Amino acid sequence: MNILILGSGGREHALAWAAKQNPRVDRLIVAPGNAGIAAIAECATFDILDGAAVVAFCAENAIDFLIVGPEAPLAAGVADAARAADILTFGPSQAAARLEASKSFTKEICDACGAPTASYARFTAAGPARDHIRRVGAPIVVKADGLAAGKGVIVALTEAEALAAIDDMFGGEFGAAGAEVVIEEFMAGEEASFFVLTDGETVLPFGTAQDHKRAGDGDTGPNTGGMGAYSPAPVLTPDLQRQALEQIVLPTIREMARRGTPYQGVLYAGLMIEGGRVRLVEYNCRFGDPEAQVLMMRLGGQALDLMLACAEERLAQAQVHWAEDHALTVVMAAQGYPGAYEKGGRIDGLDILPADSRHMVFHAGTALKDGQVVANGGRVLNVTARGSSLREARDAAYAMVGAIDWPGGFCRTDIGWRAL
Ligand code: AMP
Ligand code: GLY
Repeated sequence: MNILILGSGGREHALAWAAKQNPRVDRLIVAPGNAGIAAIAECATFDILDGAAVVAFCAENAIDFLIVGPEAPLAAGVADAARAADILTFGPSQAAARLEASKSFTKEICDACGAPTASYARFTAAGPARDHIRRVGAPIVVKADGLAAGKGVIVALTEAEALAAIDDMFGGEFGAAGAEVVIEEFMAGEEASFFVLTDGETVLPFGTAQDHKRAGDGDTGPNTGGMGAYSPAPVLTPDLQRQALEQIVLPTIREMARRGTPYQGVLYAGLMIEGGRVRLVEYNCRFGDPEAQVLMMRLGGQALDLMLACAEERLAQAQVHWAEDHALTVVMAAQGYPGAYEKGGRIDGLDILPADSRHMVFHAGTALKDGQVVANGGRVLNVTARGSSLREARDAAYAMVGAIDWPGGFCRTDIGWRAL
């Protein structure tokens, strides 16, 4: 079968790598892809936010299955366009992707189905938002309603920070995404990610992971898209996973179906755990990046069968076969990230590293220049390893990091610390 994956990050490299293990695959195309993806799949260039362009490409290339990696094409309605053209598609409709694309929509769904989450208020003007912050006090969380590439959430430890965030958002810093603002109760606790596949009706738990959002060791420094991850996340005990499923995810999926906008694809629930209880922080309508890298490393070729079962509404008959294993990924980023950074720095040492079912360097932001791999983004490489224990996976990943020669890069040295 011919498969098209949309996206260009480490997540899409991992999805392509997993698909490639599956003997059903004939052609594997990733658009736009990157230098690492080009080594295992064909790369193609067209506007992945344009549903008509995606449909035309699928028709020209006899694509049997479309996997949408990032949120932007989903929020733009690419999955709707593809389904309307009878293309088998993994990823939610535009209406269902609102669970990520609108924070106030998610809050409305939580209210409607009783899912535990932070209490909140929504505002479309700065004055009432400021009054609310002065009344409630800090710590408090200020969120731009729409998609803001992971930058639209300010966890304000002081009232002044929260008020400044209001000025930025209503001042247009996040464009239309900031036209509405959600102000939330600050939740203390430990965060973890819980993934499910759902065909709109059946919900199949699809693993747990923990991300590291801060740029510096010990969870210090600015927020990033994620500096490393590991799976499974032991903090999500079987009991907490059951709670998350029964109290948060299942009610959400039922509410979406009841509204006539069933959710199909992967649903990523960001959870806060405190005192033996889970609450929802946020939903994402796609795999996490870099969480997908550790999930795919553990699942291998079966990931494709499960995504197909999801798209074909056969999840009730599907099963995930987990090994008793662990995977860990270290993100190597360009110095300066998440602030300003340079592109084009030469990366050496990659070709001598192992690339097998236990070791992979997924490329997140690379390009080929005269046959040489160079940095081409903020997050650049996801050095990933699998082991029979988390410690073994961590040691293997950091041994690979040590062999990579990239003077312009940095990484955290403590990925996995909470579980180790
Ligand atoms: P998001 O972009 O929605 O993933 O939010 C980014 C991060 O902000 C989350 O991963 C949490 O660490 C933090 N966060 C969001 N909402 C809250 C909240 N209500 N309480 C505490 N932390 C939060
Ligand atoms: N790693 C966090 C995310 O993908 O949203």
